[in-house]
Amino acid sequence: MLNPKAKIIAAISLYMVFLLVSLGSCSSDNEEDLFDNDICDTENVSYADFIAPTMQTFCNSCHSAAAPSSGIITATYEGLKVVALDGRLVGSINHESGFSPMPQSQPKLQECVRLKIQAWVEDGALNN
Ligand code: HEC
Repeated sequence: MLNPKAKIIAAISLYMVFLLVSLGSCSSDNEEDLFDNDICDTENVSYADFIAPTMQTFCNSCHSAAAPSSGIITATYEGLKVVALDGRLVGSINHESGFSPMPQSQPKLQECVRLKIQAWVEDGALNN
């Protein structure tokens, strides 16, 4: 049989394992909440509040008015509207075949971000 000291050590080890497992599941729950598409709000996506800052973060470094890659400007409403309405914005961010995948040489944008951009385009790519 185990002596009392060994029992305590065994109990502490078990507790530590339990703690690690429960902490692990807790953090993955949080991640799901953050990226869960059920809570992705695609209602009334605003150009000023969402689209413009997203372009600034991921696209404008290559598509600014000063030196636009491929002549495409994502940094202004007028420029972005062109590729929004001709289908290239959604095609490129969703990596659809026939389009150059954007942002170039970087991972696909998070799904909720792409859904919001798509919803904005479907609502008419308004300057809202
Ligand atoms: C590192 C530079 C770079 C970044 C960042 C970048 N692009 Fe591009 N983009 C390019 C280049 C270069 C081209 C033209 C060459 C090509 O089509 O591959 C292009 C082409 C495009 C096209 C035309 C695609 C087609 O199939 O005709 C669209 C639309 C576009 N970009 C939108 C975006 C959007 C939206 C973002 C941000 C999510 C973005 N780009 C980020 C460099 C970039």
